[in-house]
Amino acid sequence: MNSNAKPRSVIVSPSVLSANFACLERDIKEVEPFVEWLHLDVMDGVFVPNISFGIPVVKAIRKATDLFLDVHLMIVQPERYINQFAEAGADLIYVHVEATPHIHRAIQQIKSLGIKAGVALNPGTPLEQTYEVLPFVDIVLIMSVNPGFGGQKFIPTSLSKINRLRELIDREGHNVLIAVDGGVNIENAGELVKAGTDVLIAGSAIFQDRIPIREAVRQMCENALS
Ligand code: DX5
Ligand code: ZN
Repeated sequence: MNSNAKPRSVIVSPSVLSANFACLERDIKEVEPFVEWLHLDVMDGVFVPNISFGIPVVKAIRKATDLFLDVHLMIVQPERYINQFAEAGADLIYVHVEATPHIHRAIQQIKSLGIKAGVALNPGTPLEQTYEVLPFVDIVLIMSVNPGFGGQKFIPTSLSKINRLRELIDREGHNVLIAVDGGVNIENAGELVKAGTDVLIAGSAIFQDRIPIREAVRQMCENALS
């Protein structure tokens, strides 16, 4: 199948890591009219050099919104917590290939809970590490910064990684989406979609830009689709 064969729809998933945690519900309501997904970054201070939030916050966000919650686990041995994050309300859980020697088992565990499963890849990890699990996942998340912090600069080589993955997925006919996470902004959104991205994850560009949240998310969606 050729990547131009059918038009792909693009999903924008605002990452609340850059939102105002003291007014999280207010910030979520700002993006709600424009998007269908919301990205939640869970960090343990071990897999990445930062700590964000965990199960109780995911639970609280679940109560506050009906958006599809994609939960990005940046924690070691993610198998220990998959069930709890699913119970807390995750609609999709990503596990990093670097975080477990048993990525296939972790994916099976997620799928057995009746939710979507994603595999995530750090910038320094070759694409090949996803190959064996492509038939089992719903989405591959390409990290375009080193995970741990919002507001970092997009690593340009991520574009060719997305391109190569797009070609492979289309060639082999997998039913798998491609997400990109890190340094995504209003300016590079269009280019990322052209390279083959289905899901644009953006934190600081939406919640911490100089322009209001509504305007930032609206422009991001517009540029993604143009
Ligand atoms: C980084 C997180 C990202 C983060 C992106 O480790 O996985 O989801 O929120 O932030 P920006 O869009 O500011 O690069
Ligand atoms: Zn993330």
